[in-house]
Amino acid sequence: MVHNGIVENADELRAKLIAEGAEFVSDTDSEVLAHLIARAGGCLPGHGGTAGGGVPAHAGSPEPAGAAEQAGGARSAAKAGRANGAVTVSEAGIDLEEAVRQALTSVVGTYGIAVLDARYPDRVVAARNGSPVVLGIGDKEMFVASDVAALVRYTRQVVHLDDGEVATVRADGFHTSTLDARTTTHEPSLIEADLRSYTADGYTHFMRKEIHEQPRTVERALRGRLEERFHTAHLGGLNIDAREARAIRRVKILGCGSAFYAGQVGAQLIEELARIPADAEAASEFRYRNPVVEPDALYIAVSQSGETHDTLAAVRELKRKGGRVIGVVNAVGSAIARECEGGVYLHAGPEISVTSTKTFTATCVVFSLIALHLGRIHDLSPADGTRVIGGLHALPGQIAQILAEEERIVELAKDFTGYQGMFFVGRVRGWPIAREGAQKLKEVSYLHAEAYPASELKHGPLALVGPDLPTVAVVPDDELRDKNISTLGEIKARRGRILAVGHGTLDTRLADDMVEVPKNEPELDPILLSVPLQLLAYHAAVTLGNDVDKPRNLAKSVTVE
Ligand code: G6P
Repeated sequence: MVHNGIVENADELRAKLIAEGAEFVSDTDSEVLAHLIARAGGCLPGHGGTAGGGVPAHAGSPEPAGAAEQAGGARSAAKAGRANGAVTVSEAGIDLEEAVRQALTSVVGTYGIAVLDARYPDRVVAARNGSPVVLGIGDKEMFVASDVAALVRYTRQVVHLDDGEVATVRADGFHTSTLDARTTTHEPSLIEADLRSYTADGYTHFMRKEIHEQPRTVERALRGRLEERFHTAHLGGLNIDAREARAIRRVKILGCGSAFYAGQVGAQLIEELARIPADAEAASEFRYRNPVVEPDALYIAVSQSGETHDTLAAVRELKRKGGRVIGVVNAVGSAIARECEGGVYLHAGPEISVTSTKTFTATCVVFSLIALHLGRIHDLSPADGTRVIGGLHALPGQIAQILAEEERIVELAKDFTGYQGMFFVGRVRGWPIAREGAQKLKEVSYLHAEAYPASELKHGPLALVGPDLPTVAVVPDDELRDKNISTLGEIKARRGRILAVGHGTLDTRLADDMVEVPKNEPELDPILLSVPLQLLAYHAAVTLGNDVDKPRNLAKSVTVE
């Protein structure tokens, strides 16, 4: 059995199974599942215990020899069990699918599982609750995986299991049903991405490849969505007509990690362009605080993977309370995309590196489109609509300009790895960018990074500022530039080193180093300001020799609580 997820009542189940004679070879919750399924399938522990960790076996193999041959590993596992005389099998043993179903009734927690039984080598039984399971449909062959990335080399046709579903997969087809055995139906969907998206394509790391993909990612997010004639954006999947859009009194954006920070950029865009009160909140907090769900609010769930458990739980809590929730999601057909009433796909292609880069940018671009769309329905003037559209068109070229300056950031990153940690500060539009910059640095370089709103610095954290703690300051040329400059002065007065990321140059008395980015419209500038911070984190991690694409302790999609 392969298991992705966490069995929350594993201790209780293990104790019961041990009392019934099961012998465990590991402390994992996954082994509890294997024992449960084996027991439900009629493989009862014998006197000698199970050296094979509860691997099911059968005295008289009912299947033809050829079929047993195909079972490979499962067959040898079964042999091991028999050699030890470790298990006895009830002759009335039930079908594997039924055994999985029965076992899962006592399980509390999340799982995506694939199960083999040596007695039924022609099938794999899969089940999902919380952790993704995708079936791949091939030519006289079928696949089970936790992510389409694993399938794309073999097939483009996939089926996403829903929570509470069980599937039996054979070489020539599959059958899905609910945990209480009601048959379900699925139309296979097509994976659009090409194979090259899943390879590093000459780059040392996916993270750098994905940072460099951003000009194209932005183009894809915009493609077919700008309606110049009406100075607006057209988003077919929103499923909100103009009258409903006018009735929206509040927008609440929910996501985790980088998706949350991109949501914060989105909330500011919506407030600025559509003048609708908007804010973002960590979905992981929202779901636990018994939120008040407002009838005239629009809720937007943001997720690259579309499988983040906390975000999905927030969507379900909202739906249960009658809230209207749409998705801003990258993974087509993912759980969050399916649960939402409508939404906008990022079309960023697969993001392999654990840390988000291109999908953060694509999310901000999609929020610009949503804000433009809502803005033009509310009170954004045609002239302002055209101004924003012009800015969006300029983004890909401007990102390419920033990427061309990478060498300079390599040097800065090397320098900064000599410190224990860093501060990131930004004000209003720069604040979510500072947060995302700190998140990137933490995730891949493991250096301590703390983000603060520039205005809050003097209310506490200034006590930490000194020659040993450098600051990255996000300083766009907007109406708050003077305020930001006075923050730089406060840091400099305490001999803190400053790297400013912004527009134009700053006096060396204000910033020790400066990375200049091209100027766009003030509302869209944050999108560009985050790119140098991605490069900074990447090169710091490379300098420190870290596993950039798979940082310690992190997972690409967190499908557990
Ligand atoms: C994990 C990753 C983060 C990511 C977050 C949200 O915590 O480590 O980098 O931002 O999940 O992922 P999602 O797929 O929902 O965007």
